[in-house]
Amino acid sequence: MAMKIAILTGAGVSAESGLGTFRDKDGLWTKYDLNEVATPEGFARNPSLVHEFYNARRRNALEASHNAAHTALAALQQSGRHDVTLITQNVDDLHERAGARGVIHMHGELMRALCAACGHRWDAPEAMHPQDPCPACTAARTRPDIVWFGEIPYHMDRLAGAVETADLFVAIGTSAEVYPAAGLVEIARGETLEINLAPSARANAFDTHRYGPASEVVPAWVAALI
Ligand code: APR
Repeated sequence: MAMKIAILTGAGVSAESGLGTFRDKDGLWTKYDLNEVATPEGFARNPSLVHEFYNARRRNALEASHNAAHTALAALQQSGRHDVTLITQNVDDLHERAGARGVIHMHGELMRALCAACGHRWDAPEAMHPQDPCPACTAARTRPDIVWFGEIPYHMDRLAGAVETADLFVAIGTSAEVYPAAGLVEIARGETLEINLAPSARANAFDTHRYGPASEVVPAWVAALI
């Protein structure tokens, strides 16, 4: 029977595409100080360092390929068998490259640029630099269109509504360490499922659990739904 399904993904869904996660062994936050590269204050202090950090991540994402988990989630959405809302904390575009549509990027997108002066957004070039002029207002205050720590995630009303009204809320590949994403399971009124490599910080808040690599567990879960 057709269901409303809200899916939240995290870095674990892109791990097998070779994109690093944040809090695993060798994770990004074990190599970089997030206060320097993922806060507005860090950007104000050293915009070149921040652009270099995101330029490297953008290059990695462009060189990466989507994996079987991205493909399965796109197939679930495109099958038309269920009403699927795909929400991601990830800033890569691997869900889209696997065929997903209307993905809600609550933490922004690596492939988009934002003018801090006028709010204009455009497709980011592979490498961005602080002095790049905004195509709309020409100010040299270009930043990656990424939601940094201390900033408000995007599309919260829309995604909270989708989670609240879903028959099934599924979190995939997230440590559930960062809010408000980690709190979405609390507002889910339907059944909840955690799919991850290992139990997350909020594992106890979920009704059901499936553990293992996303590229194996997600296709098996989707196969039972379409
Ligand atoms: N398959 C499934 N899950 C995996 C895999 C895999 N192959 N590899 C790792 N994981 C799981 C880990 O067990 C961990 O729980 O993915 C999760 C990754 O957690 P984090 O690195 O904390 O990533 P995420 O939860 O997406 O971080 C949330 O924090 O830094 C901010 O904005 C950033 O969006 C990010 C947010």
